Amino acid sequence: MTSSELWTRATAERYDAEETETSSAAVLGPTLAFLAELAGDGRALEFAIGTGRVGVPLRERGVPVVGIELSEHMAAVLRRKTDEATLPVVIGDMATTVVPGEFTLVYLVYNTITNLLTQDEQVECFRNAARHLAPGGRFVIELGVPPLRLLPPGQVAVPFDVSERHLGFDTFDLVEQILVSHHFTRAGDDGHYRRDNSRHRYAWPAELDLMARIAGLACERRVADWDGSPFTQDSTKHISVWRKPS
Ligand SMILES: C[S@@+](CC[C@H](N)C(=O)[O-])C[C@H]1O[C@@H](n2cnc3c(N)ncnc32)[C@H](O)[C@@H]1O
Repeated sequence: MTSSELWTRATAERYDAEETETSSAAVLGPTLAFLAELAGDGRALEFAIGTGRVGVPLRERGVPVVGIELSEHMAAVLRRKTDEATLPVVIGDMATTVVPGEFTLVYLVYNTITNLLTQDEQVECFRNAARHLAPGGRFVIELGVPPLRLLPPGQVAVPFDVSERHLGFDTFDLVEQILVSHHFTRAGDDGHYRRDNSRHRYAWPAELDLMARIAGLACERRVADWDGSPFTQDSTKHISVWRKPS
């Protein structure tokens, strides 16, 4: 039984329209190049493939992709784009669901490891990635660095977007390592805003490295973004690559 909140039909139907920036060529170009190079001549497994924002164009580049996705609603949107023979998707929890075959690449992008709300499940997710990897294969995660340097003592929230159509801020439970993202999104032009919350278990890069070691993987590379720029103490996100021994 996963701790992940289930993504609803309404969220799934809105997802692609709201993700125009993360679906742009400027974002997806370097993402797909990075992932395709690591997949090489092998197959790729996307944990939490969603509506196929990354998996569908990666498949179109010639990389065989399989997806695991918890929400039938998200998978149904993907299925309108490509058929099951071209891009198989298994409905299940990425921490425990096993699909047939070996992969040279398992990847989990867009902060989605944080949808698993306990440390145990995040460790299981690493173990599940390792289980699917061929010797020498890689597990890739894209994740924000927890924005705690922006949270001074006594302040309860950190805004991450204040724009015309969207107000977003995070609140924190520092004991449980839980972050709640609050979104107020303009719904139409009549002045109404829709309110949504999502819960996340944040984790530091070093904690992920330890989870990887528990799963038998070793950190090979950590960069600040898909373009390969160096990860520094000022980086707000990272792309990390762990390798299964050959
Ligand atoms: C931010 S979306 C990312 C979707 C896609 N990877 C992308 O980059 O656009 C998060 C996705 O994670 C899925 N998800 C959440 N918890 C999950 C779990 N335990 N196992 C599998 N998928 C999960 C959600 O249903 C949703 O589709």
